[in-house]
Amino acid sequence: GKSGYDHYMLKEIHEQPKAIRQCLRERVTELDSTVVVEELADLELSEPVQFVACGTSYHAAMFGAELLRERGIPAQTFLASEFGTDRVPIDESSLVVGVTQSGETADTMRALREANSVGATTLALTNTVGSSAARECDHVMYIRAGPEIGVAATKTFASQQVALAMLSSVLSAESSPAFVERLRALPDQIQQVLDESDARAVAETYEDSDAYFFIGRGFNESVALEGALKMKEITYKHAEGFAAGELKHGPLALVTDRTPVFALVTSERDAAKTLGNVQEVKARDAPVIAVTDVPEKVSEYADHVLEVPSAGPRFTPVLANIQLQLVSYWVANRLGRSIDKPRNLAKSVTVE
Ligand code: M6R
Repeated sequence: GKSGYDHYMLKEIHEQPKAIRQCLRERVTELDSTVVVEELADLELSEPVQFVACGTSYHAAMFGAELLRERGIPAQTFLASEFGTDRVPIDESSLVVGVTQSGETADTMRALREANSVGATTLALTNTVGSSAARECDHVMYIRAGPEIGVAATKTFASQQVALAMLSSVLSAESSPAFVERLRALPDQIQQVLDESDARAVAETYEDSDAYFFIGRGFNESVALEGALKMKEITYKHAEGFAAGELKHGPLALVTDRTPVFALVTSERDAAKTLGNVQEVKARDAPVIAVTDVPEKVSEYADHVLEVPSAGPRFTPVLANIQLQLVSYWVANRLGRSIDKPRNLAKSVTVE
């Protein structure tokens, strides 16, 4: 059941601390500064690492690839529907990682089968034990989020992000007490976001807007894309996410006083640049909602601040995403949408 929540989506948003604890269990411990993923004991790194996925899982894959590149491992992401051995150079020395919550997505399955057919090593990162992806691939890592009923992926996205962070540590054979500590702190930090979020008030302020924009750079780019996908999927409103630096290359023409812009500005390397982008949209009178762990740096330019705790440059974006999930949920709720089963969509897309 929905355990007292109006929708599975809201229940699953609130299950994220538990989902992350399950994902981390026995893989990181307080005794050790290493990450141990038992099921990946025999996995060997081959470069570049190629991710294939669709939708929300693709956004998680972008995050994972960025984490690997940061560790010096070349990594690329492909939409599964755009991946093919005729288009992407892969052979028996390649590692192809399919990120798929259900483990049944047709596009992702086809990509993994093609990768296997040329002898590549394949890894499935999935939530579903015994799924087609788990059976197809040479290796499987479970994200252990528990069943997700809402069509909109929420807790499984957070679990994918955390599982990919662990994968980046395993593949680079590099870890540190600080990295493990960051991971172990996440469930409580997510709980804090859930307990203190002002997302509902922000949603009520902007529920009548016809379009929403989401901007972020670095680790926040994938979160901006995910924020927009969630918004369109459950509210049926136009939403667009992009790398903050792309604003002035086109999208800025759409920005008016009627287009709220959600700006992900966390304590990252290039936060100052994103702040510059925030000023650009403010100059066009757009309402700005900053999602940030550094409110003192952004409040001057923002109409609203959705604050999150600091979790370092890699993981603060994971927390920022929780705020965006809540904003979309509350906009859709106010509009009376069919939140758990949006029109035209299925939980698992089994046709190409
Ligand atoms: O089961 P998968 O992770 O392979 O599903 C991929 C997409 O269909 C899925 O993430 C979709 O984008 C979500 N409904 C978005 O919330």
